[in-house]
Amino acid sequence: MSTGSLLAVDLVIAVLAASAWLGGGAASVARRRPLALGLAAVALVATLARAITITALARAGWWFAAEKVLIAVPLSLAAVAVAGPRLLRARGDVRAVALALLFAGYATGSALLVTVLHGYPASAGAGLFAVAGVVAATVISGRALGARPSRPVSRAAVAVAVAALVTGTGLTVAPEATPAVPHDHGFPAAARISAEPTRRFTLTAGTTTVNADGRDVAAWAFNAQVPGPELTATVGDILEVTLRNRDIGRGVTLHWHGYDVPNDQDGVPGVTQAAVRPGQEFVYRFRADQAGTYWYHTHSASDVGVRMGLYGVLVVRPGPVGGLDVTVPVHTLTGRPLPAPTVQRVEAGVPVRLRLINTDSTTHRYALAGTAFLVAAIDGVDLRGPTPLVDTAVLIPAGGRYDLVFDAPATPVSLFVDGRAVYSTGPVSTTTGAWPVLDPLGYGAAAAVPWPRFDRTFTLVLDRGLDLRGLLPRYAHTVNGAADPDIPPQVVRRGDVVLFTIVNRSQVVHPWHLHGHHVLVLARDGEPAAGSPLWLDSFDVRPGEVWKVAFRADNPGMWANHCHNLAHADAGMTLHLMYS
Ligand code: C2O
Ligand code: CU
Repeated sequence: MSTGSLLAVDLVIAVLAASAWLGGGAASVARRRPLALGLAAVALVATLARAITITALARAGWWFAAEKVLIAVPLSLAAVAVAGPRLLRARGDVRAVALALLFAGYATGSALLVTVLHGYPASAGAGLFAVAGVVAATVISGRALGARPSRPVSRAAVAVAVAALVTGTGLTVAPEATPAVPHDHGFPAAARISAEPTRRFTLTAGTTTVNADGRDVAAWAFNAQVPGPELTATVGDILEVTLRNRDIGRGVTLHWHGYDVPNDQDGVPGVTQAAVRPGQEFVYRFRADQAGTYWYHTHSASDVGVRMGLYGVLVVRPGPVGGLDVTVPVHTLTGRPLPAPTVQRVEAGVPVRLRLINTDSTTHRYALAGTAFLVAAIDGVDLRGPTPLVDTAVLIPAGGRYDLVFDAPATPVSLFVDGRAVYSTGPVSTTTGAWPVLDPLGYGAAAAVPWPRFDRTFTLVLDRGLDLRGLLPRYAHTVNGAADPDIPPQVVRRGDVVLFTIVNRSQVVHPWHLHGHHVLVLARDGEPAAGSPLWLDSFDVRPGEVWKVAFRADNPGMWANHCHNLAHADAGMTLHLMYS
């Protein structure tokens, strides 16, 4: 079983155990003997079954099991030790075991809450909070049931509660000092290149209406079109892009997704520049020195901004290209897929390059039917030794790009996205739903990792948790138990080779995206990457996965490092890489 499924199964069993204990307790209060004993038996089995799932999770990595081993296991043992013997001795009035069953329910339930609300890393504060909750709930229930706790028990309860309050502040106060992420001041000095621009564009952001799937829907757009104008350049060009904001109240910027521009051109409001307000403008200028498929999007209120349409394609070609070269950005606008580009027909034998871009916040599945093809590039970088694929689907993470190349066949070709034909030269009678999915970590020809060692290592454990640091508590997407802006920045020095271990212990996919650098994939779940070197800027870390990626810190500045499910990024899953 994959670690992701184990996490889910363990959660289900934990919910089952806690609710069966509580249900058994309630049934015994109501003197429903068979029901109470039946639920208690279920609870006992479920609680003991967690020994298996927790052991398996601990073997998959301490990150997945820390709080379960340190908090859930002792509380579950207490539950079984208290309720088990009393159940065996339960003759006569079943109400006599009610408090024991309720205690077991509170113990397993509060351990579950620790996992759901706090998760990783396990802290003494969280453990004591859990224990204090159990003690308080048991004492109150005991009173209600007419049982008088003994003196020592009450004293112990008070002591635990006080200790929990004192150390529990560990839950609400960041252990590290507040990170020094600049906010709307002290932006990098514009090191704008002085060379004359060779490609000039103007993008004006504004509200508009566009047609999506046959319906007019409200959108935010660059130059009144979604996607915005396709920006194209040839390697060596100097791009100058003037951004104007007509009426986007949340502000606009341009972030060149995957394009490793100088930091002051990166377009992150509050970090590299101030957001461009209505009536204002900002001029970006950088040299196009990486060929490949990229895209640009606003980074101001990025979740709603990109979703509403403030994005477009950036393609840099190495020189003049023959054949057909088209971009297929996929985007969902208010729940409706936007139309794909108009299909151009070419004669058989003409080389075709389809540049697939996922501009949504979730993964899409692409299936190219009717021809064999190569995955020539991922995230703008050419793969080494790609081999022909037939009847194989690819999964593109949020923000990611795949370039598929093939020679046009005489028969029709059709590109399906999540089962919907978006780009077809004619009808293709194939069903693509059962096709295997390409694993890029095993595709193409391998090459040695270019670094013998790492100067810095960072671990990012992705999870959910209650963030109590703001004015209102929120259920945040967290990194190492903290949410933006409280996640300490990762500090590196220029020239460092940096290793990231990224662990997903949540139940959802997190498409990871570091600005300003492509990372080289080293391993996933302990399996070294075996195919072409993969230099990615967007990669899906699925539930239970552990990715190891590395990069050379060669682009100084302050860089966003976040989940590209932009709703997650907004809800806490954003941190920063900083050069000292
Ligand atoms: Cu495409 Cu910070 O994002
Ligand atoms: Cu995410």
